[in-house]
Amino acid sequence: MTLLYEGKAKRIFSTGASDVLRVEYKDEVTAGNGAKKDFIEGKGRLNNQITSHIFNFLKTEGLNSHFIEQISETEQLVKSVEIIPLEVVVRNIAAGSITKRLGFEKGYQFEEPLVEFFYKNDDLNDPLITENHIKLLHLADDNEINALKEAAMEVNAVLVELMNEMNLRLVDFKIEFGRTSDGQILLADEISPDTCRIWDKQSDINFDKDVYREDRGSIIETYQTFLNKLEAR
Ligand code: TMP
Repeated sequence: MTLLYEGKAKRIFSTGASDVLRVEYKDEVTAGNGAKKDFIEGKGRLNNQITSHIFNFLKTEGLNSHFIEQISETEQLVKSVEIIPLEVVVRNIAAGSITKRLGFEKGYQFEEPLVEFFYKNDDLNDPLITENHIKLLHLADDNEINALKEAAMEVNAVLVELMNEMNLRLVDFKIEFGRTSDGQILLADEISPDTCRIWDKQSDINFDKDVYREDRGSIIETYQTFLNKLEAR
């Protein structure tokens, strides 16, 4: 089993099957493109369990992803894909970078979900990019861009409903996609409190990495409470 890639939060290994990879979730947490970084025991287990749960749920709703199965507390098997270097962000409520970039008040409810693309490139600090930029950079063609937007909106609709049942509001999230060897586009990477903003409907408590970004408490307690809610619904 060769280590193929090590990112900030996960390691990717080959398996005996050429089209299957093993993902290991790490106990590392970073924010601000690695500017803030910590080792937090238990974080890998939580994000693996939460991502596995969410990808399984999406499947029951007819939305496929690279996810095959969870194989241990910190590992899962996924289909091998070549990741498209785009962060696809869907926003229902203004928070984070869009409040600074465009001046929306934190908490402003958008009339309809907004899809944004960011170029995954650490050297450039993951800039926001337009559809024309995506084509000029040969990251995806028109049909693929439309497929990404459509898939992102479908994931949003399912997750908004799921969070709603849990008495939570899905503020925004980031997803990534990859291409299989036959060119099919598949939802990939992870969906966890690291990659979403999730607010309690009644209180101002949030269940996401802002707790770490803003030094507002224990992310282990926060993520565990979110997982408990997910498993209890
Ligand atoms: P932003 O407000 O910083 O643009 O983030 C929007 C959403 O995307 C938020 O839920 C956090 C998530 N996100 C990631 O998962 N990875 C990233 O590198 C960034 C910048 C955001």
